[in-house]
Amino acid sequence: MERTLVLIKPDGVQRGLIGEIISRLERRGLKIVALKMMRITPELAARHYAVHQGKPFYEGLIRYITSGPVVAMVVEGPQAIEVVRKTMGATDPAKAEPGTIRADFGLTIGRNLVHGSDGPETAAFEIGLFFREDEILSYERAI
Ligand code: CMP
Repeated sequence: MERTLVLIKPDGVQRGLIGEIISRLERRGLKIVALKMMRITPELAARHYAVHQGKPFYEGLIRYITSGPVVAMVVEGPQAIEVVRKTMGATDPAKAEPGTIRADFGLTIGRNLVHGSDGPETAAFEIGLFFREDEILSYERAI
């Protein structure tokens, strides 16, 4: 069983896609074990996107992710990291496969609606940035 962090980014919230995105994750059988709506501070954004510091898109990325509320969640399931990434589609919506969230609702890499952790170490780190251990719940999910 694996856990991953999913963010519905400000554009996803502003376009009224919270329900659609959560629904797609739930329909795949993934279990939401933590969930909150919040505004990401510049400090949290800098920690979350530290690996991108110095890249040409970094400043714009920080402005975008802090520009409005996001929905943060911890999603659990077998191979949850890979399953979430497949459900989201490629980072660049223009290159994402039809049927994925980013292809169906997005067009540009700078407004790609969702974030999912890209590996086990990143997932553990990112979950720890957004959630305390006691905010992550345990329950049975019917398949
Ligand atoms: P995400 O999966 O959140 O991880 C890093 C983010 O940086 C990525 O989604 C995009 O939103 C953003 N990003 C990556 N490459 C570019 C780029 N070339 N131009 C603008 N934003 C980018």
